[in-house]
Amino acid sequence: MRKYRVGVLGSGKGSNFVALADAAAADPTIPYEIALVLSDVAEAGILTQARNRGIAAQYLSPGPFRTRLDPPTEAACVAALQQAEVDLVALAGFMRVLKDDFLRAYLTKVINIHPSLLPSFPGLEAWKQALEHGVKFTGCTVHFVDPGVDTGPIIGQLAVPVLDDDTPETLHARIQVAEHELYPAVVRALAEGRITVRGRLTTWL
Ligand code: GRF
Repeated sequence: MRKYRVGVLGSGKGSNFVALADAAAADPTIPYEIALVLSDVAEAGILTQARNRGIAAQYLSPGPFRTRLDPPTEAACVAALQQAEVDLVALAGFMRVLKDDFLRAYLTKVINIHPSLLPSFPGLEAWKQALEHGVKFTGCTVHFVDPGVDTGPIIGQLAVPVLDDDTPETLHARIQVAEHELYPAVVRALAEGRITVRGRLTTWL
């Protein structure tokens, strides 16, 4: 049977990609596979991790903007995902905001993982924000992507405690362990058609 095909976009080391890919590789009953990895960073670990697993991996030169892709690159990104017959786009540490054309091409089919319990602490270094605010629990969130930053409808969350002696590094590491459990579970649930999106995601169209 055809598996649900996932494209992963990332800019960093790729530990969430590894969790997604290795969960699927370890269990034949998991109904998704990683079809393609794209990165805006040529030397990103996520590309190496994908190639080491025999998964197609491509660098897309992002163009002159710092926080988004230039329109031709964004179009090339959509074309590569379509050519790979991707059903779902999973952002995993992708450091650019996707614009309307991309989101329209994959409407309700783009998800992201964020290292806090949204809507608390959107944006960069969410674990540092959590420490600075003195919260006693934080965690990770998987959500559908809309044109905002970490604002789309929430699909799943896992909480972790913040310990008195936590540093940014120890807290981020604890959150990442939770991410590696949550992301494969959510992608599996999407692949099995167990998640539907209601309302809020399409209001910006
Ligand atoms: C994760 O902490 C994720 O929540 C955030 O970026 C980080 C990516 O880490 N969006 P990795 O590249 O998957 O290791």
